[in-house]
Amino acid sequence: AKELPEFSLEEVAKHGKSAKRIWVTYQEGVYDVTDFIAQHPGGNKILLAAGGAVDPFWSIYAQHKTPEVREIIEQYRIGNLDKASLEKREPEQDAFSGDPIRHPALLVRNPKPFNAETPPSLLTDHFVTPNELFFVRNHLPVPSIDITEHKLSVEGLDGKKIELSVEDLKKKYKSVSFNSVIQCAGNRRNEMNDFKKVQGLMWEGTAISNARWTGVKLRDILIDAGIDVYDERIKHVQFEGADTDPEGTPYGASIPIEKARSNETIVAFEMNDQPIPPDHGSPLRLIAPGNVGARQVKWLKRVVVSEEESHSHWQRKDYRAFSPSVQLGEELDWDSVPSIQEYPIQCLVCVPAANTNIEKHDETIEVAGYAWSGGGRGVIRVEISLDGGKTWQSADLEQDKEQDIEHMWAWTIFRATVKIPEGADELQIIAKATDRSYNTQPETAAGIWNVRGLLHNAWHRVPIKVV
Ligand code: HEM
Ligand code: MTE
Repeated sequence: AKELPEFSLEEVAKHGKSAKRIWVTYQEGVYDVTDFIAQHPGGNKILLAAGGAVDPFWSIYAQHKTPEVREIIEQYRIGNLDKASLEKREPEQDAFSGDPIRHPALLVRNPKPFNAETPPSLLTDHFVTPNELFFVRNHLPVPSIDITEHKLSVEGLDGKKIELSVEDLKKKYKSVSFNSVIQCAGNRRNEMNDFKKVQGLMWEGTAISNARWTGVKLRDILIDAGIDVYDERIKHVQFEGADTDPEGTPYGASIPIEKARSNETIVAFEMNDQPIPPDHGSPLRLIAPGNVGARQVKWLKRVVVSEEESHSHWQRKDYRAFSPSVQLGEELDWDSVPSIQEYPIQCLVCVPAANTNIEKHDETIEVAGYAWSGGGRGVIRVEISLDGGKTWQSADLEQDKEQDIEHMWAWTIFRATVKIPEGADELQIIAKATDRSYNTQPETAAGIWNVRGLLHNAWHRVPIKVV
């Protein structure tokens, strides 16, 4: 990079968001990113840094600090900052210094913002995942909240609102408790990426956990705020968290009104009979069972009923799955596909792990994993094959005794003792699940591949060596 030209901060500033060519700096480098803007997975937010440094933005969106993003930005390098400019730069702040301490067993996929999976070998040991081992998906730093001061604001179409403390919620409305899964839409993205390259955080198969949530029905709160939950103008309920980006914009999402006013959608204050921990939304979080994780807003601060979906980046420009005909690098027409709400049927073998060695004289192998479907659609069976799908064996299912097939928010843990075919030195364990609507999983990622690697639910395959 030495022979590249040098620029001053003033020259870079001339290439701000209304300029013909858009420049940014990162560390000592100067980049002309004009041709990248339309492809940026974070949308127009990139323009916040136009004519200046991306560093303060990337200290919050630290998912950019990877070799992959470095490779992208280096394609646009046009020079370096000069010495005088380098001396004038502000020292970098760590926006994540207030994040909590986490359990060492979590498999960290990205430290800042914190994203981590539950180790698969521990997942099926507990029907209800312990709080410390529950997977974490944060887009921003964990906000620091004074629980005694925290207020939830709830707004009607006319802008009238009420404000409730955590204590108000507990006192005013009847509490309910039930088990419900949270699964990230990007769970199993790495396998889709193995099929064909996709963009996003490389989750393996355990960006999913199951907890007992206690809270109050969102419907009761809406009605108390004077909202007619059957008002036909209301199509969506929007939510905002207390976590914000450098511009002060909060994380946000929305769900359809039918889901919001249902019996099962709650504002939770307890997770497994404990106050919700900081990583999972302390003190209040939306639980919309059966919907994708992204809609279950943590650190819940604001609820607004609306004719429209949330305008948040994560509702409108992310968490939507395109057709396999849309290729990586193409400009994405986000309005052409709906936001993901209910999850499709999913299952995964947690034990044994891929590439486990088993002994030649072992006659059987114990297989265990999870299955789950969105919309409360109960899992009706999980099947295992060792011959590429020609023949199948049903697994035993452990299910929530309080829930029925039409309202199964909790997952199913499956177990099977599978006979090892004689003489085999390699095996592939395949698992697939079927839900209450007889939806089942696709054989491969071929027909469901999408640029952002979302909702990967192909048959799960685990290679095993017989030694
Ligand atoms: C996401 C590249 C600047 C905000 C991404 C991703 C890439 C990328 C590759 C996908 C990451 C993933 O999902 O794993 C770049 C490059 C930039 C740039 C090459 C060079 C200038 C910025 C700036 C902002 C920004 C200045 C300002 C806030 C975002 C956001 C996301 C994103 C909000 C979505 C993150 C999420 O899913 O939570 N960017 N970016 N980016 N970027 Fe950038
Ligand atoms: N809520 C807020 N306020 N901020 C976030 O970053 N992440 C969402 C959702 N709610 C998020 C949020 C996503 S994408 C998922 S998958 C789940 O929270 C993860 O919940 P968990 O961290 O408790 O496992």
